[in-house]
Amino acid sequence: MSRTVLITGATGTVSNALMNALDGTDVVLRALVRDEARADGPRERNAEVFIGDLDDARSLPPAFAGVQDLWLLTPNGPRAPEHSMNAMWAARQAGVERVVRLSVVGAAHDAPNRSGRLHALSDHETVRSGMRWTILRPHWFMQNLLNEAGDIAASGTFATNMASARIGMIDVRDIAECAAQVLLDGPDRHHGETYTLTGPRSLTFDEVAGQMSLALGRSVAYLPVSDDAKRETLLGYGVPAWIVDMLEEYARAYVSGWGDFTTDTVAGLLGRPARDLTDFARDHATAFTATG
Ligand SMILES: NC(=O)c1ccc[n+]([C@@H]2O[C@H](COP(=O)([O-])OP(=O)(O)OC[C@H]3O[C@@H](n4cnc5c(N)ncnc54)[C@H](OP(=O)(O)O)[C@@H]3O)[C@@H](O)[C@H]2O)c1
Repeated sequence: MSRTVLITGATGTVSNALMNALDGTDVVLRALVRDEARADGPRERNAEVFIGDLDDARSLPPAFAGVQDLWLLTPNGPRAPEHSMNAMWAARQAGVERVVRLSVVGAAHDAPNRSGRLHALSDHETVRSGMRWTILRPHWFMQNLLNEAGDIAASGTFATNMASARIGMIDVRDIAECAAQVLLDGPDRHHGETYTLTGPRSLTFDEVAGQMSLALGRSVAYLPVSDDAKRETLLGYGVPAWIVDMLEEYARAYVSGWGDFTTDTVAGLLGRPARDLTDFARDHATAFTATG
């Protein structure tokens, strides 16, 4: 019998890619969406949409009834553990069999960034939930570079406070395909596993710029800037201060070498190499070249 998978974060980057990866398989897709006005994307992927908010535990039970698998993605922010707790409680009450949780690279109680420490709390909750579980801990998303697409398209440059940090960055499509594989493999196969997912190479942002130049056929240059300059830019775009602080903690950790590693877990799960930055840049060339 087909299994029903509840997708949280269904309008966001990773869960969108996961719904693409599950499209055409025999799972029944169900999407939790906060706002009916944003439900078109999940519906186009044949997901049954339930309106619910991870802030509000009382809004969740209908979406969880009859679900076997929970894909649990919590948005970045100080309330992430509460969001996880609300979803996990709704899952327990509904008799959900398995949770596949999106965590983050290096999640630990002593991680040098608040997101890693918050995810560690929810990872712990997942492990002790009594449900079958798998935790995915992806590295820095290549798709974060899309935040720089406007600058790259307009000026051929992008500025960030990563100095000469090396990062084993990963394409979100690979995270999604790993999650889909775990979900399609059935509840026992990956139970109790925590997978750290990276791309195939650990790259500096100078190297990223070089790869993008080759893929796009035009010059792209990386401009290192100070933490303060980056902070001012992000705050100017209206990014909340909590997120700006979190990003600065990550940048400092990466500059110290914390993210300079890769794993072969994606290849192990998918039976093919992880996508390279060149693949990402080529497949998103329009975003990096379109102006206006
Ligand atoms: N960026 C990275 O490099 C990186 C690396 C590793 C791990 N991560 C982890 O990835 C996760 C973020 O994934 P993403 O980039 O795919 O997220 P995203 O694109 O920012 O999307 C967040 C999703 O969460 C939904 N959401 C927000 N508040 C909600 C609430 N109160 N109730 C229900 N849904 C809510 C949003 O829905 P709306 O449409 O209603 O806003 C959206 O669907 C975080 O846990 C982060 O720590 C990120």
